[in-house]
Amino acid sequence: MKKIVVIPGDGIGKEITDSAVEVLKKVDEKFKLDLEFETYDAGGTAYDKFGLPLPDETLDACKKADAVLFGAVGGNKWDNVKAELRPERAILGLRKGLGLYANLRPVKVATALVKNSPLKPELVDGVDLVIVRELVGGIYFGDRCESEIKNGVERAWDLENYSVPEVDRIAKLAFETAKIRRGKLTSVDKANVLATSRLWRRTITKLAENYQDVELNHLYVDNCAMQLCVNPKQFDVIVTGNLFGDILSDEAAVIGGSIGLMPSASIGELTSLYEPIHGSAPDIAGKGIANPMGTILSAAMLLRYSLHAEEAAKAIESAIDKTLAEGYRTADIYSEGFKKIGTAEATEKIIKNLQ
Ligand code: IPM
Ligand code: MN
Repeated sequence: MKKIVVIPGDGIGKEITDSAVEVLKKVDEKFKLDLEFETYDAGGTAYDKFGLPLPDETLDACKKADAVLFGAVGGNKWDNVKAELRPERAILGLRKGLGLYANLRPVKVATALVKNSPLKPELVDGVDLVIVRELVGGIYFGDRCESEIKNGVERAWDLENYSVPEVDRIAKLAFETAKIRRGKLTSVDKANVLATSRLWRRTITKLAENYQDVELNHLYVDNCAMQLCVNPKQFDVIVTGNLFGDILSDEAAVIGGSIGLMPSASIGELTSLYEPIHGSAPDIAGKGIANPMGTILSAAMLLRYSLHAEEAAKAIESAIDKTLAEGYRTADIYSEGFKKIGTAEATEKIIKNLQ
């Protein structure tokens, strides 16, 4: 038996994880994966119930699970909650608590959606890249001060720091990822200004000696942000730190037409967690119109990386491609001439297209 902990979270989180679980159950019938699901609270929903964004019970269940499927957290309802109790703390706590050191964010443009991209079709048709983002270090988890008074002036600060073992660990995974793809790795930093970036670059350059079959290049983060718009097809695997990865992966996600379609895997030493890269979209929550595809594709990544069920993962990915090719579109990717569908109908179509 494989235990999957489901954390719907806030906003559209419940709708999209419900949809992904429905698809997983169907895939389970076909491929005999013996899946079992348990649902737990996190985020603002957990804060409202227990006064905490990440209850111990939720973290403990995740530690014992074979994999975690996560929806989204956050919403303006909790804007005035103290920093350490904000819904976002749930996902940061899960990353730290489960040691989810690497975040994989693939960007592959579905042919049917090339026209949805804000970039010119000839620039995006054929884009197939993955961002490997360091997820438990850097400025996200360094020391910080919310407010201090020095010489009568209020200031705040956040400390960016990386150690060689931290960089080595994420870089190894990035090199291994490049090795089984097109053999190209781009490391992104700001080594012209930051000491942490210079250590990052030195460490990766040294490690490259063990990966002669991977072609490594380095880009400054500002240049990389520009190159993603100018020529995204040049990229195979991009490896970068926590903050740069956060920014670049949102930028890269829209190349694919809609952030609603983008999955991610956060790889840990033991349990790994899978979530769409979009947020909780409180403005459309409960309306049944959210695009569940990012979460369903995250479920496919779960099958691939945590359960090693490659065939089942591919079946989900093909079912989504087919549904899009048939002309079905949720509101976020809808344009005239296509068939508009809601969350439930999208789920139904995808299930029907499972081979
Ligand atoms: C993401 C999100 C999170 C992050 C937030 C919700 C803390 O933007 O997963 O990219 O900044 O890492
Ligand atoms: Mn982000």
